[in-house]
Amino acid sequence: MQVERVSCQWREGYVSVEKMTDCLGDGEGAKTPMELYEELTAQGDQVRALKTAKAEKCLGSQTEIEAAVQLLIKLKVDYKQVAGQDYKAGCPPSENSVAPDNGPAASGGDDEDTVDPWNVSTTNAKGVDYDKLIVRFGSSKIDKELVDRIEKVAGQRPHHFLRRGIFFSHRDMHQVLDAYEKQKSFYLYTGRGPSSESMHVGHLIPFIFTKWLQDVFDIPLVIQLTDDEKYLWKDLTLEDCHHFAVENAKDIIACGFDVNKTFIFSDLDYMGASPEFYRNVVKIQKHVTFNQVKGIFGFTDSDCIGKISFPAIQAAPSFSNSFPQIFGSRKDIQCLIPCAIDQDPYFRMTRDVAPRIGYPKPALLHSTFFPALQGAQTKMSASDANSSIFLTDTPKQIKNKINKHAFSGGKDTVEEHRQDGGNPDVDVSFMYLTFFLEDDEQLEKIRQDYASGALLTGELKKILIETLQPMIAQHQERRKQVTDETVKQFMTPRRLNFHF
Ligand code: TYM
Repeated sequence: MQVERVSCQWREGYVSVEKMTDCLGDGEGAKTPMELYEELTAQGDQVRALKTAKAEKCLGSQTEIEAAVQLLIKLKVDYKQVAGQDYKAGCPPSENSVAPDNGPAASGGDDEDTVDPWNVSTTNAKGVDYDKLIVRFGSSKIDKELVDRIEKVAGQRPHHFLRRGIFFSHRDMHQVLDAYEKQKSFYLYTGRGPSSESMHVGHLIPFIFTKWLQDVFDIPLVIQLTDDEKYLWKDLTLEDCHHFAVENAKDIIACGFDVNKTFIFSDLDYMGASPEFYRNVVKIQKHVTFNQVKGIFGFTDSDCIGKISFPAIQAAPSFSNSFPQIFGSRKDIQCLIPCAIDQDPYFRMTRDVAPRIGYPKPALLHSTFFPALQGAQTKMSASDANSSIFLTDTPKQIKNKINKHAFSGGKDTVEEHRQDGGNPDVDVSFMYLTFFLEDDEQLEKIRQDYASGALLTGELKKILIETLQPMIAQHQERRKQVTDETVKQFMTPRRLNFHF
């Protein structure tokens, strides 16, 4: 990898453009969508800088600005041809994007849903358009064929999150299964950003599914608690974030993970204690430019430098030699990351870097979002207490929150509802049941009864309350059993019950 620096001097400063060229590539001419995207982002920055310089009545003539704008326009046209989608700042191409044979790829329009690690929003009451998101992110749909294959390889009925399309998208899952069938093991990696003492029910989704995967495939699991991330992003002290990490670890352990197969770590503790982990962080940092992270995450010049380098820290656990106590010096063990799709930008970056530093790309399984109580236009989020049901909530709080806030797809009056029926597709209580009511037949009956008007909103809410109250009470009971000693065991770097 060579970094070519093209600098244009304006006034006393420099407008600097980094262009990355891969010496091992196919040579001149054929640029990848990502290369063009980076060039475009850099060119956009340059046009802005030129305009600012001009506005400040310094160097820079109108002709030079026009030339830069012309180049920007040409790059946009090239990009659309190669990537099959319009260039959009802050929205890099998927690694697999190619010009489609027919019709436009993902909509580049204004009505596009927002999905990134910090924001999830859509104007559609049914929630994010996940099919469009797959095209935009360049991942693959978890189709029936893949679900059947998981069933065959695992030898178990697929989890209802798979059967119901709650885990809906993947990257390289077939490759993981191919290798597994040839007796090649893999490991699981997931995480949590400890921003508060309590997690909400939405956070359980990836952990419940990860536990199922661990049980079914009998493989090691590493769980990253990004207390450093939360310190950088929120108005919290380092002590708060570390404390939340330990408290959240208790909730995660209460999901039932096996201490002999699971390592949970706080970045604030593990980064300093593991030279191998930090070496990978530095390698990743060397192979990602500021332009790239600006493009992927939308960072601006006013973001602190900690944020800009943080993605390398979330990327590092994707490589097995970050955990020598578990994998020895092996750097070739494939990693599989279950998470909601908001975390995908981190792993698009990771997959882009991996081959360049000699590591396998991590595979991913993406889930949909557990919606906010107020409706599926946004995800349940800990930063909005009214939108969430917390794992610490009492039965009474659960009941009140659902009755008061859960958006209903029912009609205004009982008469209308009986006559026209409700709409389960936008009804938050029904959506929550799809996540937590395991009985497929019962769920289908509820759907039909609600849609026909036989089941009223109040009755639907009652079923949800009676599903969530015991589920959360049982979680609280299991969490009570998690002692400080147990947390220490999970969080001590050690060999697990596997031989690599
Ligand atoms: P965090 O703490 O925001 O979320 C933790 C996990 O929960 C998922 N999630 C949700 N899933 C369904 N519905 C929701 N409403 C919902 N809200 C959050 C997230 O996708 C995530 O899987 N930076 C990360 C921590 C992290 C991580 C990882 C996550 C570090 N390494 C590897 C996944 C995989 C974060 O702040 O997650």
